[in-house]
This record gives sequence, structure tokens and C-alpha cells, in this order.
Amino acid sequence: MMNRSNSFAPEHLLHRLHATQQQYRYISPPAMQQIAAEYQLPLSQIAAVVAFYSFFSTQPRGRFDILFSNCTSCGYLADGENLLQLLCQQLQVIPGTTRADGLVSIGETSCTGMCDHGPSMLVNGTPVTGLNAGKLPQIAQLIQDQIPVPQWPAAWFEISDTVHRRDLLLSNPLIPGNALQQVFQQGISEILAVIQQSGLRGRGGAGFDTGKKWQLCREAPGDTRYVVCNADEGEPGTFKDRYLLREYADALFEGMTLCALVIGAQQGFIYLRGEYRYLLPHLETGLDHRRRLGLLGVNILGQRGFDFDIGIVVGAGAYICGEESALIESLEGKPGIPRIRPPFPVTHGYLGQPTVVNNVETFIAAAQIAVHGAGWFKASGTPTSAGTKLLSISGDCRKPGIYEYPFGVTIRQVLHDCGATDAQAVQIGGPAGALIGVAEFDRTIAFDDVSTGGSVLIFGQSHDLLAIHRNFAHFFAHESCGFCAPCRIGTQLLKNALDTIAAGRGSIFAFDELQKLGQIVKHQSHCGLGHTAANHVLDGLRQFPQAFSSRLQSQFTARFDLDQALASARQITRRDDAAAHLDNE
Ligand SMILES: Cc1cc2nc3c(=O)[nH]c(=O)nc-3n(C[C@H](O)[C@H](O)[C@H](O)COP(=O)(O)O)c2cc1C
Ligand code: SF4
Repeated sequence: MMNRSNSFAPEHLLHRLHATQQQYRYISPPAMQQIAAEYQLPLSQIAAVVAFYSFFSTQPRGRFDILFSNCTSCGYLADGENLLQLLCQQLQVIPGTTRADGLVSIGETSCTGMCDHGPSMLVNGTPVTGLNAGKLPQIAQLIQDQIPVPQWPAAWFEISDTVHRRDLLLSNPLIPGNALQQVFQQGISEILAVIQQSGLRGRGGAGFDTGKKWQLCREAPGDTRYVVCNADEGEPGTFKDRYLLREYADALFEGMTLCALVIGAQQGFIYLRGEYRYLLPHLETGLDHRRRLGLLGVNILGQRGFDFDIGIVVGAGAYICGEESALIESLEGKPGIPRIRPPFPVTHGYLGQPTVVNNVETFIAAAQIAVHGAGWFKASGTPTSAGTKLLSISGDCRKPGIYEYPFGVTIRQVLHDCGATDAQAVQIGGPAGALIGVAEFDRTIAFDDVSTGGSVLIFGQSHDLLAIHRNFAHFFAHESCGFCAPCRIGTQLLKNALDTIAAGRGSIFAFDELQKLGQIVKHQSHCGLGHTAANHVLDGLRQFPQAFSSRLQSQFTARFDLDQALASARQITRRDDAAAHLDNE
């Protein structure tokens, strides 16, 4: 069944929960019961969904609900951590809590995709960027005066996109309907062959052959097929899809419709990360426009039986929902726990039916290829990595923003172009990617060299790499979905070990311990999150051992202060005399 009435699909469980959270600032047990009855679902399922997503809360949040982005760029490199503390002081809120009068709550969230805009935060779900110490007293005053967020200075909410380099995708505007016309002129099999010959590989990170994915889905048994666009863009340091969704939304819709035509789907979904909810009206307007042009809906472009439409489902703050099987679970209104694979989504995807999941950039590239041909695309890039890649560059450089490069560009060239003059290291592909030191700056961005979904984080000489590893480790420990033990426990242990080292309590054995732990998390976890969560530590130990070893103690040091840990026991027994304390001499 197509959902053409309203792309927001208000009946979707996540949207119902978003609305409840917005209205009451939390989702109470009676609200869950009511929703369970409405949706004819067990209460336990509603409770599990509410508990899973970080944008839902079972305790009331403030009427002004503030979440600072704690990603490496905004939180650490651009000092967002200190800004959070400052605002908490000014509003007298304990970080991570709601003020007693219910006016305001201040906490943290993972990367909001605003890394090129300095420290940022979400206020009642809307991004405010370019924070600095000067802005905070104004924000505090607006909150104290209870000025509704829509009446705050409009300039604070402007998100400008800076594109510093355009290539194949960004410099070739696509005329709506052109890619589809190619299919009608050349035939479906021919266009599928063009996509395959182009060498297009997925831009979301894993780099699977797009033409092959479409073909596998097309050939999979079943009557109903789905096209899903992964617009979850949760990898810290990535914001290129944010830009594409705003400026190239029509090309995305075209690519999805092309895919639908090739695989025989009637329904598509865009899974939009909750942090990009502000883009929803813009995307809906774009979809309505295409419906009016006859490019979505029934008998598209007058072709009898070619029916397709696109709905948008808004996520709720869970990085794991970028993993395609977790995303499908979430689309189905469940917690985003990755499925056991195989079977893969191409045969058993949304509602168990054959489903293509592709990244935003992949769909746009596919639409361009249908218009310009495989040769046009392959002329850029390398033999194994055809075409171009959009990079989101942030951190210690003069010109953060979006850059489109042919695959094969060296990291040195990228650093030169963005004005990074004193980089000691670059994290390519976000915390899950690769940490590259100066000695490896001549390596290239390519699937068979340094592969990336688009995140490039630059660390200048002045930054402490251990602090960056801690930031990454905290991210994974927070975002692990908890389904499998190696990842659930391992990411916590990695985080604890790095915290211990940073606190000056790491022993000489910590090096080996991190290695062993890293290998277990990498090789024994269930999904891609766990497989990549320790990469940064393993890379760091190999390339920057001194960042760890210089902090280790040569003699045994307790991991925690035992005397302090026994304080509550002393309190309970009402003994706080000298003899009740441990002798630390
Ligand atoms: C933890 C995790 C997070 C992911 N996040 C994203 C994401 O935000 N966007 C994306 O396109 N792919 C993401 N992926 C990759 C998807 O699972 C999938 O490979 C991709 O959407 C397929 O599209 P593509 O072939 O066009 O790249 C993620 C994978 C993992 C393991
Ligand atoms: S590896 Fe981590 S994120 Fe993936 S299923 Fe296991 S616990 Fe969840």
C-alpha cells in the first residue's frame, strides 16, 4: 500500500512518540499504555522502544530541553564541553538533569552533524550552532524569561553550507525526471547494466557494489519490494548528507524513484536522523512538488503501472540505526537492534520483503549515472573506486566544510586544500574509521586504501590524542545497543581503561590490556558497530604509542581510590576516625 497522503506518516510509532515527548516532555506509563492500546502492541514493546532511543524520556525533561553535541569537533576540539559547564552554572542546572522547577534540562548528545559550525546544541530538537561564551548569557536570559524558542534570534538557527570543492555530483544539476526518462528510452535492464558498469559503490561506508545490490533485490523472490534511503548520518564528523538533503533533495528523490523502477518497488522511505528533523518541512515540500509534476504517485510520467511514493520516518537519537538492519527494525517501529545477517535486506528487509538500502549520496550518484552514462562516471576516480566522494571536513583547519574529490586524492592534498597546516593526525571515516598519522598522509581516499563514509576530523599538534581516544571510546560505550556482550561490555571496558590512563592511574599492563580488549571487541561483536569500535584504539597504539605510554605508571597503581570508594561504608557504619581510613603511605 502506498502512503501518498502525507509523507510524515503520522501513524508511525516513532512519530507518535515524538509528539508525546514534545507535548508532555516525557512519555509516562499511562501514555505508554494508551499508545500500546492504539497500536495494538504489547506494552513491553512500547516501553522497549521508549527506553532504546535517547530522544525519548521516561522522566520529565525541561520546558527548554538542551542537548550539547559532545562529538569530537564541537565537544572537544571546539570547547563545547566547557560551554556546557558554563551554561549549567549560569542556569544552575546539574549537567544531565532537569532543574527542580522543570524550566530547563541540560545534557549531552552524540554528534548532531553540525561539525562545520563550531560548538552546537539542540534546543527542543532544533539546532543552535556557533556557540561561544558570549552567547551563553543571552541564551540563559531567554530561558529565564521563558521566551519560546521560535522567538529566539533567527540568525542562531541559520545553517549555512560551505562547499569548497565541487566535482561530478555537485557541479551537474539534474533536471527532474531526466534519469527516469532514460529508463523509459533505454529499458530497465539496460539502465541496470549502466549502473553496474559505472562501478558505483555505496557511499555510506561499506562500499558494496550498488548495481549488484539492485540486481539481487530485483531477482529476489517476493511481490513487494522497498527502497530505503539511509539518511541517518550519525558518524561523528559527517555532515555531507545534511547538505545534500537540503540542496540536492530532488536528485535524491529521482535516484530513489530510479531504483524503484529497476527493482519494482512501489514504496520508498527516507530514514531521517532525529537531529535533522528541522529539514522535514523542506523535504515534504520537495516531495509534494514532485507529486504535482507527476514524478511520484500513480502512473509516473504517464507510464501505466509505474506507481511509487516516498514517506519519511524520523529517527530518535540512536547511532546504531544507521546500520541497515537496525534501521529497518526502527522503520518497523522497534528498537534498532541489528539483525543476524544473512539473510540480507536485499532478500529479507523491511517487513521481511526484498529491500534496497542506500546512502543519500549513492542514490544521487545513481541518478546522475543514468543521465550521463557509466563512462562519464568511471572517468573520475581509480579503477576500484569509480567517481567522486563527498568529504565533510572539520577540526583544526582554516576552511571546514564540504569537499567533493575524485577517489584517489591523497590525504596530504585534502589537508592542503582545507588549510590544515599543523595536523599531527587525521581521523578518516569517523571514530569507526582509521587514525592516520603524518607518516601516512600520502595514502589515498579509496575503497582499497583509506575508505570513508565522508568524515574527516583533523587534529592539530596542540591536541592531546589520548583525550580524543577517550571522546571516541565514550561515544561507542554510549551508542552500543547492548545486544551482544563483547560490544556491550568491551566498549565500557575500553572507555574505563582510557579514563583510568587519563587520570594517571594506568599501569604498564594497560597497553597489553587495551590490545587484547580491542581485538575481542573487533572480532567477536555481532555487528559493524562493534567490529569498528576499537579501531581507533588499535590504530593509536600502533601509530601513537607515546600518547598512551607517557601516561602509564611504572609501578602498580590502584585503578581507583579505594579509601574514597569506602566513604559510603564509613558513613553507614558511622566510623570516620583515622583508623577507619586506609593507610596510603
Ligand atoms: C554502526 C553503523 C552505522 C552506520 N551508519 C550509516 C549512516 O549513517 N548512513 C549510511 O548511509 N550508512 C551507514 N552505515 C552503513 C549501512 O549499514 C549500509 O551499509 C548503507 O546504508 C548501505 O548504503 P550504501 O551501499 O549506499 O553505502 C552504518 C553502518 C554501521 C555498522
Ligand atoms: S556489536 Fe554492539 S551495536 Fe552491534 S549488536 Fe552488538 S552490542 Fe549492538
